[in-house]
Amino acid sequence: MRAVDLIHKKKNGEPLSQAEIAFLVEGYCRGDIPDYQMSAWAMAVYFRGMTAEETAALTLAMAESGDEIDLSPIRGIKTDKHSTGGVGDKTTLIIGPLVAACGVPVAKMSGRGLGHTGGTIDKLEAIRGFQTELTRERFFAQVNEIGLAVIGQSGNITPADKKLYALRDVTATVESIPLIASSVMSKKIAAGADAIVLDVKVGSGAFMKTVDEAEALAGAMVDIGTQVGRQTSAIISDMDQPLGYAIGNALEVQEAIDTLRGQGPQDLTALCIALSAQMVVLSGQASDMESAESMLRERLESGAALDKFRAFVAAQGGDPAIADQPDLLPQAPVLIEVAALQEGWVQRIDAEQLGIAAMQLGAGRATKDAAIDHAVGLVLRRKVGDKVAAGETIAILHARSEGEANRLIVEHVQNAYTISTEEPGLSPLLLSVVT
Ligand code: URA
Repeated sequence: MRAVDLIHKKKNGEPLSQAEIAFLVEGYCRGDIPDYQMSAWAMAVYFRGMTAEETAALTLAMAESGDEIDLSPIRGIKTDKHSTGGVGDKTTLIIGPLVAACGVPVAKMSGRGLGHTGGTIDKLEAIRGFQTELTRERFFAQVNEIGLAVIGQSGNITPADKKLYALRDVTATVESIPLIASSVMSKKIAAGADAIVLDVKVGSGAFMKTVDEAEALAGAMVDIGTQVGRQTSAIISDMDQPLGYAIGNALEVQEAIDTLRGQGPQDLTALCIALSAQMVVLSGQASDMESAESMLRERLESGAALDKFRAFVAAQGGDPAIADQPDLLPQAPVLIEVAALQEGWVQRIDAEQLGIAAMQLGAGRATKDAAIDHAVGLVLRRKVGDKVAAGETIAILHARSEGEANRLIVEHVQNAYTISTEEPGLSPLLLSVVT
């Protein structure tokens, strides 16, 4: 077999066989197929697409390119969730304890943030003492004991995806539905869960800009899951503004705790309940969405979900008292108010720009190895649909210092808000479910 023939075939719109796709992935991963041939193939896929069978074959070849986690030492149906990326997305911190409180085992590997999106591991490390590296044995034992553990990605998971994703990033081939679907699902499959719930974001701050595109991506991922024997469902949710009000690591932990107490923002709570209900049903703890949702609401109201969070934090070396004393979390020394530039209704908030503003404050990484400041970030005071007066506070920066750099960030945040004289029509957060 020769890579050039397979590029040719794809360029002509013909599907590749499973063996041909495995040849490309394995050869690329070993270094036998060079970047320039793999880029030409990725571009051919970008224009010609892939069939469901090709997409599943690519996913499996990438999942099998490195370590595959065997979660069988953990009892029960293990369910994982994945979000296609968002600003202010602290759902794992809420969903983990919430579904674990319903008897769903959660053995989760999460990532660190890069650029304008935050990572769950960075948020957890805002809790003093919290260990995100556990041995495999301790990881399994903790899930069997308390129902939940979250660790950083370790080992050699999906090296083929890492290499191909980095190549796509610099060859303008990221935005291809089969390539995104196989990239996401290869990691989920290698991570070992029996069932997978996906949160596919749509809107200005997301990869998918329209509901049609998001539904196509969700459909491709659900098809892959089904073809490889993992129950999979997806929720399409709006990402035209950040989720909740807090952006920044310790600030998001605080908002997650408020939500577990039943006092979180309405959008964040609704998305967490919807995703959790899918997980509860897929894991067999409830027979339908309605009973799953009422079980979840009971766990929030009774305090069981917050108790599970305390147990989780304590098991991984953190101080569970943070659940009741927010001032034990890192605090930024300087608060800077951001004023509305004009009177009107908030029409739009550019989530990506706010993610960049938080990164500039120190909450995120501009480069892979940059250090982050867990205390800093921003808290929105106004969201889409709110009426504001000129000069009214729309957001508060939690910063390390006053100074010129932060004055520029204030302007950046002001520019991320579109305020107009027309009252906006509000689009729903939860757009559809794909099963
Ligand atoms: N996230 C991934 O993991 N892979 C993609 O291709 C795009 C987003």
